[in-house]
Amino acid sequence: MITGKYPNLRLRRSRKYAWSRKLVQESSLSYSDLILPIFLIEGKNKKESIKSMPNVFRYSVDKLNTVVSKAINKGIPMIALFPYIRPSKKDEKGSEALNPDNLVCRGIKFIKKKFKNKIGIMCDVALDPYTSHGHDGLLKKKNILNDKTVEILTKQAVLQAKMGCDVIAPSDMMDGRIGEIRSALDKNNLNDVQILSYAVKFSSSFYGPFRDAVGSKKLLKGDKKTYQMDFRNSDESLREVSLDIKEGADMVMVKPGMPYLDIIKRVKDNFKIPVFAYQVSGEYSLIMNGINKKLIGKDSIKESLISFKRAGANSIVTYFADQIEL
Ligand code: PBG
Repeated sequence: MITGKYPNLRLRRSRKYAWSRKLVQESSLSYSDLILPIFLIEGKNKKESIKSMPNVFRYSVDKLNTVVSKAINKGIPMIALFPYIRPSKKDEKGSEALNPDNLVCRGIKFIKKKFKNKIGIMCDVALDPYTSHGHDGLLKKKNILNDKTVEILTKQAVLQAKMGCDVIAPSDMMDGRIGEIRSALDKNNLNDVQILSYAVKFSSSFYGPFRDAVGSKKLLKGDKKTYQMDFRNSDESLREVSLDIKEGADMVMVKPGMPYLDIIKRVKDNFKIPVFAYQVSGEYSLIMNGINKKLIGKDSIKESLISFKRAGANSIVTYFADQIEL
């Protein structure tokens, strides 16, 4: 009699050959799943390395050509722009965020002029690259002011959208900002501009290298625990997502990535909305340093990215996007 158990049943049968493994694979990874973050810096003809992030660079706007063309040729659907702002341009209120001639605005215009709609542009909405204290919002006596910050973020979002940004990505974690940004965009006839809400963003130690890359690390006073989520929580992420969906988010992000695969899965199971994962700078540098020191193999990159797909993510923001061979 043939039974559904060993020795008749052998799961290794389908693992024997590469072709067979391909046929039964449950998830896959392609360039169309990836979003490439790009750091911008003032100046001309600059491609500057970042100490805490091996193989990641800051580009001056005139140097964006190569990196963006490469992304388009690989079939990466979107890039995300992050500015390194000179310390002299930072102030308490992050005023530079509202300057129509700031680095991000110039970056958007350059890319849109050159590449039209061949690639999407996503921009962070938050004040941390622009403030002298490194926080995402206005700071008053150790408090981050919610509603006053939302007013500024709304202006920042409208400005970026007017410049040609396709996807507005508020990463600040203020309450109520998605609704305010959606109505402001619509009032300005920017109904087609999408909102990707960093709905579930944890207060995490894995952001260290990014803060170094945008130059906010040394400036940051205290931590971000009064606005970013407590990493002990899971139900709270569902509340955050449901609010942002009601307020008009087109897509939601879970961030960081690998320590929060359970959250990605819960969000995807509970809401039928595109869910993006952010493999953040600390995750990137850990893997990259491990590979460089030959502690782990290069395939760890693909393994880490597939884990997001398995958990249910539609797309992944990753600094590996333009480095990985698929
Ligand atoms: C800022 C912002 C951060 C990241 C993206 N946008 C850092 C922070 O909240 O301190 C982190 C990205 C990364 O670590 O790769 N609002």
